[in-house]
Amino acid sequence: MEFAKRLDNVTGSAIRAIFALLEQPGMISFAGGNPAPECFPKEDIAAISQKLISENGAGILQYGGTPGISRLKDTVIQMMKARGINALADEVIITSGATQGIGLAAKTLLNPGDVVLAESPTFIGALQTFLTYEAVIKGVNMDDEGMDMDDLEKKLKAYQPKLVYTIPTFQNPTGRTMSLERRKRMAALCKAHGALILEDDPYCDLRYSGQAAPPIKTFDTEGGVIYLMSFSKIISPGLRVGAAIADKRIIQKYNIAKQGEDLHTANLSQEIVNTFMNSGKAEPHIRLICEKYRDKRDAMLKKLKSFPKGVTYTNPDGGLFIWAELPEGMNAVSMFQQCVDAGVAYVPGTHFFPEGGHENTMRLNFSMASFEQIDKGMDILKSVIEKNM
Ligand SMILES: Cc1ncc(COP(=O)(O)O)c(C=O)c1O
Repeated sequence: MEFAKRLDNVTGSAIRAIFALLEQPGMISFAGGNPAPECFPKEDIAAISQKLISENGAGILQYGGTPGISRLKDTVIQMMKARGINALADEVIITSGATQGIGLAAKTLLNPGDVVLAESPTFIGALQTFLTYEAVIKGVNMDDEGMDMDDLEKKLKAYQPKLVYTIPTFQNPTGRTMSLERRKRMAALCKAHGALILEDDPYCDLRYSGQAAPPIKTFDTEGGVIYLMSFSKIISPGLRVGAAIADKRIIQKYNIAKQGEDLHTANLSQEIVNTFMNSGKAEPHIRLICEKYRDKRDAMLKKLKSFPKGVTYTNPDGGLFIWAELPEGMNAVSMFQQCVDAGVAYVPGTHFFPEGGHENTMRLNFSMASFEQIDKGMDILKSVIEKNM
């Protein structure tokens, strides 16, 4: 069988392969990135779905428009206002998750060989998508304040990228948040170099401590930032609903590109999300999941404090991940099997780096495991690390 060449360099997500291992009974997983199953508003969604179908079944079960249901677009516009982003209806498109917002950016903007800059490390799903569209991905260094702006400037000059992809808030995989100063500088630098910014912000409502910084989009004066939001982490990833907010010329292209993908995001999902967000239940629900995740984050951080000297880790104000670095020379890839054999899993950090390397790093997810599992799993991880030191 002969497949299209564009997928030659794209391997299946390492995380998906790791998921297969997690089927083993008793395995404690810090590997996934899923919201906690106990945090889904199941009863509310069941009642909303029932009502929606019985009151407007014919409309919901019919084809819909590509840009999305206008009531939901209005809800997104209101949510954006609270984040400091003023958007008009023709600057918004409902997408099937932020994933589709990334895919449509690649589909509408990238030609084979175009350079995309991204934080190093970054979200594997985005790396896969950019590779599928045959882009060349170059990593930009980061530290505790997010993407390194001097390195960004250097690489903007060196590569003239079309797109700079960033997850500025509670980044996947590091949990880091870009500082206000860097957000402003990033908007100015990319504008000066004619590169579009793809700002992927699915975690911003999962804040457990610290003060929010405005999205980079709020410093966008000329339509140079595509902002992606998602309902996956605050309601449910299975509903597959998010939105892209950008200059109307970009949204028009997104509309055309989306027609050939899924025509439109499922009406039922859109209506459920819209009804839930306007039911008065969304705010308390988000508050509740933030409390739960904050306690889980704290439980994992408390355990990390007792890890051997030389193991460093991030202290995220939100999101779902902590990033740990073992001393130079240690290898989280080869240690992975030992950990799985002992009953605990994580994702080796190397998979998140556009250019590989950094085998001493790992991503730890704290949302999925129970408190007991965090306790036990972190003890196992600590003892395997100690053995390998
Ligand atoms: C940075 C980032 N972007 C996008 C996504 C996918 O989000 P969605 O479910 O909205 O497609 C994820 C999910 O893990 C993510 O971490």
